[in-house]
Amino acid sequence: MKKLFIVMFFVCLGSWRSYAQEGGEAPMEKTELDSLFSAIQGFVGNWWNGSDLYPDPCGWTPIQGVSCDIFDGLWYVTALNIGPTHDNSLACSPNAHFRQQLFELKHLKTLSFFSCFVSTKGNNSVSLPTGEWLKLAGSLESLEFRSNAALTGQIPGSLGSLSKLQSLVLLHNGFVGEIPENFGDLIKLKRLVLAGNSLTGPIAQNLGRLSELLILDLSRNSLSGSLPSSLGNLTSLLKLDLSDNKLSGILPSELGNMRNLTLLDLSNNSFYGGLRQSFEKMNSLQEIILSNNPIGGELDSINWKNLRNLAILDLSDMGLEGDVPDSLSELKSLRFLGLSHNNLTGNPSPKLATLPFVSAIYLFGNNLSGDLKFSEKFYGKMGRRFGAWDNPNLCYPIGMLAASTAPYGVKPCEEEEEVVKLMKKPISKANFDMRNWNLAVSKGCSVIGIEGFGWKFVGKTLTMVLLMNMFVMK
Ligand SMILES: *[C@@H]1O[C@H](CO)[C@@H](O)[C@H](O)[C@H]1NC(C)=O
Ligand SMILES: *[C@@H]1O[C@H](CO)[C@@H](O)[C@H](O)[C@H]1NC(C)=O
Ligand SMILES: *[C@@H]1O[C@H](CO)[C@@H](O)[C@H](O)[C@H]1NC(C)=O
Ligand SMILES: *[C@@H]1O[C@H](CO)[C@@H](O)[C@H](O)[C@H]1NC(C)=O
Ligand SMILES: *[C@@H]1O[C@H](CO)[C@@H](O)[C@H](O)[C@H]1NC(C)=O
Ligand SMILES: *[C@@H]1O[C@H](CO)[C@@H](O)[C@H](O)[C@H]1NC(C)=O
Ligand SMILES: *[C@@H]1O[C@H](CO)[C@@H](O)[C@H](O)[C@H]1NC(C)=O
Repeated sequence: MKKLFIVMFFVCLGSWRSYAQEGGEAPMEKTELDSLFSAIQGFVGNWWNGSDLYPDPCGWTPIQGVSCDIFDGLWYVTALNIGPTHDNSLACSPNAHFRQQLFELKHLKTLSFFSCFVSTKGNNSVSLPTGEWLKLAGSLESLEFRSNAALTGQIPGSLGSLSKLQSLVLLHNGFVGEIPENFGDLIKLKRLVLAGNSLTGPIAQNLGRLSELLILDLSRNSLSGSLPSSLGNLTSLLKLDLSDNKLSGILPSELGNMRNLTLLDLSNNSFYGGLRQSFEKMNSLQEIILSNNPIGGELDSINWKNLRNLAILDLSDMGLEGDVPDSLSELKSLRFLGLSHNNLTGNPSPKLATLPFVSAIYLFGNNLSGDLKFSEKFYGKMGRRFGAWDNPNLCYPIGMLAASTAPYGVKPCEEEEEVVKLMKKPISKANFDMRNWNLAVSKGCSVIGIEGFGWKFVGKTLTMVLLMNMFVMK
């Protein structure tokens, strides 16, 4: 076995030698080889000598992050990944920069940079070259810049000429300015991620031309203006994330055409004008996150039961009014329901407790009223993940509850009313002191009430006081 291995090694080595010696049959063009070495040197620093370290980068001395393929009998570089993803990856120097030679790699399909342009010392911010990208237009399918804080300036419009691109990811860099208008020309794109930069300006109408798009993530920028109705043409889309921007206006009803959409996150913007009924057509949705927008209107403007795949529904901080509709309780996959900090009124339906997978229901900070009619078992199961505090007119019927399961931060109802009724009656001297004490306990409620446990205590004492009052009166 060992012998065979050694023999094979020499055979391989021999054939490589003969290639190299015969010159004309060299497996890799010298220009391609030199371009690769020079391009890499620009990123990792002049100490890096490719021809010394990796004489045969597509053959027996592979470079971590570099892939090759054969075209017309010659090796060419097809992928270049720069940045510390593996122990022996190419890591960048503090003055990493783009060299012309990068753009001479004519079969480059994948180019990615992770945590490469990060220098914060001095004035080492780098911008993307503008003029060269056209040279890669015939080959480049995936371009990624992730976590390069010192990569600043505008996104060059010339990226819009990379007509074969299927994935463009510019995530967590320092880009400023607007999204180039001509990104609408990248009609092969399946993924467009520009999240976590400082981009401004509007979302252009012609992004609606990217009809093969599966993922559109423009979150965590400062984009403004309203959503173009053309976005509704992105009917293949699976994920749409526009959260944490300054977008405004009415949500276009055309969004409802995205029948395959599973994630819709528009949270933390300034959208207004109510929920659109057309949203109920997006029945692939698993997550709807619209929190922190002054959208307003009523919850039941949508027939929720059509969205039967919904697992996460976050509609907190939206200025919603009206009741919590019963149809929410037909969302049988629902795990999270966030309706906090709205202006919801009425009494929440105990049917919500029938949601089989629900693990959090947040109703706090509304104007719900009446008796909470959920079961003790439900409160026990949910604990503080049933959040109904900060609804001044809401209470729970104490008689039904074992002490430890009272809903957190909600006051007990009936007994207090009873006590008030009783206190209006003439009181005998015997229970006068008791009444003062009773008031003191009530005042204490807002403080201890925050601990679910305190309520139990208060509840019990109130009951006791009540019984004693009655006794004294008889
Ligand atoms: C790499 O090293 C060789 C000698 O080992 C030298 O001839 C060549 O100029 C060096 N290349 C670079 C780019 O520094
Ligand atoms: C950094 O570069 C900008 C122009 O890109 C210049 O205005 C500024 O003065 C430079 N700052 C330092 C500290 O060199
Ligand atoms: C969107 O599709 C409609 C037809 O459904 C078409 O009239 C419109 O031009 C398209 N918009 C864009 C920006 O592609
Ligand atoms: C939606 O998804 C289905 C199933 O994956 C697929 O067959 C269909 O082509 C998709 N629709 C669009 C418009 O991409
Ligand atoms: C909302 O988005 C802005 C960016 O537009 C961001 O600065 C802010 O931290 C976000 N707020 C929350 C609560 O996420
Ligand atoms: C709730 O409604 C009241 C009265 O209509 C209004 O003053 C308040 O701003 C609203 N609150 C929210 C969070 O929309
Ligand atoms: C809460 O609802 C009650 C009616 O149930 C109403 O009288 C009151 O004004 C509302 N409070 C707020 C802050 O909207």
